Amino acid sequence: MNFINPIYYGVEGIKEINKYIQSYHPSKIVFLVDENTHELCYPKIITEIESSAEIEILEIDSGEHNKNLYICINLWEALTELKIDRKALLINVGGGVLTDMGGFVANCYKRGIPFINIPTTLLAMVDASIGGKTGVDLGSHKNQIGNFVLPQLVHVDVGFLTTLPTEQILSGFAEIIKHGLIADKKYWEEIIRLDDRNPDYLEPLIKTSIEIKKKVVSNDFTESGLRKILNFGHTVGHAVESFFLENNTPILHGEGVAMGMIVESYISMKKGFLSYPEYEEIKLYISSLYPKLNLKKDYFDDIFSFMQNDKKNVNREIKFVLLEKIGQAVYDISVEKELIKEAIYLYIE
Ligand SMILES: NC(=O)c1ccc[n+]([C@@H]2O[C@H](COP(=O)([O-])OP(=O)(O)OC[C@H]3O[C@@H](n4cnc5c(N)ncnc54)[C@H](O)[C@@H]3O)[C@@H](O)[C@H]2O)c1
Repeated sequence: MNFINPIYYGVEGIKEINKYIQSYHPSKIVFLVDENTHELCYPKIITEIESSAEIEILEIDSGEHNKNLYICINLWEALTELKIDRKALLINVGGGVLTDMGGFVANCYKRGIPFINIPTTLLAMVDASIGGKTGVDLGSHKNQIGNFVLPQLVHVDVGFLTTLPTEQILSGFAEIIKHGLIADKKYWEEIIRLDDRNPDYLEPLIKTSIEIKKKVVSNDFTESGLRKILNFGHTVGHAVESFFLENNTPILHGEGVAMGMIVESYISMKKGFLSYPEYEEIKLYISSLYPKLNLKKDYFDDIFSFMQNDKKNVNREIKFVLLEKIGQAVYDISVEKELIKEAIYLYIE
């Protein structure tokens, strides 16, 4: 089995989509978009698709609070009403919310129809749309329901980033930073030298990040071991993101991950892995890019409670991915509640 979906860039991607459509002969092509990607990305894609198959468009409202089973049910009902059969093809055009949910919807509809991802945010390009994790949130619990399933292919076109708001670029950039920290010190050094995050400068980084993720995922598709390192910054980051989601003041995924990487780097140092100078380097760089989250010490118990539901936990122990040094991560490390509290308090202070 191929443990990673093929990923193509630019015109090559459209060619491969058209090749796939020609060989698969879908009964219908259904595009899943949100209001932004419908307006800003779909018009370009549709002029490039070569197919005589009937086209349908399903639009959902953007935003993490819409990544849930209720919206999935709406989508399954819409597909049923449109009489979409198992020979149809779903094409997801959007950010991580849309590719996560679209993949899940495709995989469950009539026990599975094929889908293609066209990521249109930086975060979806370097992370969410590749690697086969799909799913939705359950209440405020992030990605609680889902499965591992690969798209037929992923088409990455950095041109879509020209309309993406700066804060969304920064959100995706957090995953690029993570890739450097867990896997490649030289890449980290390249990242911290970059002082312009416009799409032209980002293109080589996007490719390197995708290569890092591909390498990790192809060794451990269902995350029984090494793949866990991709969760660096996410144990705390997801919990904080869930906390803000529950309180109707959602933050961006990358903002949670950025904060999580600072906190988890501190824990890495206190556990005797990461050196103090490297911790300082990470903290200073990330703090220079991301505004501090508005957290209070009183929130700790609620945040900790979300952490207790983290998918990497075993026997109710919270398992962390920590840094041994910049460019190298370890996983399945138990961390005591007091140290987690100390690290989060330090961030708040
Ligand atoms: N499956 C995975 O492995 C994985 C990995 C990381 C993150 N995720 C998930 O990804 C989600 C976050 O994804 P995201 O950061 O892409 O957010 P998102 O999908 O919410 O998109 C962000 C915003 O950008 C808009 N947008 C998308 N493309 C645009 C474009 N080209 N121009 C202008 N606006 C555009 C969207 O409409 C939305 O309003 C989270 O739910 C997270 O859990 C999944």
